[in-house]
Amino acid sequence: MRPYLVGNWKMNGTSADLAEISRIAEHAARFDMVDVALCLPATLIAAAQSGRGTVGIGGQDCHAETSGAYTGSISAEMLAGAGASLCIVGHSERRTAFAESDAAVQAKAAAALAAGLDVIICVGESLATREAGEAEAFVLHQLHGSWPGAADAPSRLAIAYEPIWAIGTGRTAQADEVAAMHAAIRAGLVGAIGTAGQAVRILYGGSANPGNAHALLSLNDVGGLLVGGASLKADTFNPMIEAAAQVAKARKLA
Ligand code: PGA
Repeated sequence: MRPYLVGNWKMNGTSADLAEISRIAEHAARFDMVDVALCLPATLIAAAQSGRGTVGIGGQDCHAETSGAYTGSISAEMLAGAGASLCIVGHSERRTAFAESDAAVQAKAAAALAAGLDVIICVGESLATREAGEAEAFVLHQLHGSWPGAADAPSRLAIAYEPIWAIGTGRTAQADEVAAMHAAIRAGLVGAIGTAGQAVRILYGGSANPGNAHALLSLNDVGGLLVGGASLKADTFNPMIEAAAQVAKARKLA
């Protein structure tokens, strides 16, 4: 499976940052064994089209309805119409700050697929849940509750495992914690949808950076990274694209 490197810009970026996207796109074009995408603020999606090259441009959330009286919200159709090809749903910041339930995330994922977008569904436990020894059960419960249904093309869906305690904290999960969770998610997917579950990419997210990208991407069943802070600048994101390309090359030779 091709490594998938996805930046999540969160609520960062104005038109002044479009040059950064071009710098990332120019670099990504040199590494055709890696899939690269940037999930931008919705305000930048249309403007990012001209400099994006082969980089996919995505949204960070969408409404489950196609249109209507939902002041301030953006539908998956609107993202697609602006040029997006993917959308993140269920990020822990949405689940926590906006009280999004698994059912709400599931509805958003279904809406995004229906609009023709690829979807990244985020899951991840809090520190308290991990310390209670319940991380795996919690994440698998979230996964089952957020998955939009067996009929949807697994190749258009990715899962991002993002332990909440590792997001924006500089504290990356340990290799054994990541590997164990990704194996559990893979088993959960295969249990739910059969061998098609092997085709779903499972990304890791949480303080991924140029220093740890190679090691994380080398772990079994880590199909890519969802990168917050380090994706904002080409100076930090481009070396991560290179790390992904190195891992892809090594896998091909192995
Ligand atoms: P971080 O964010 O890389 O800044 O920890 C990751 C995310 O929230 O997707």
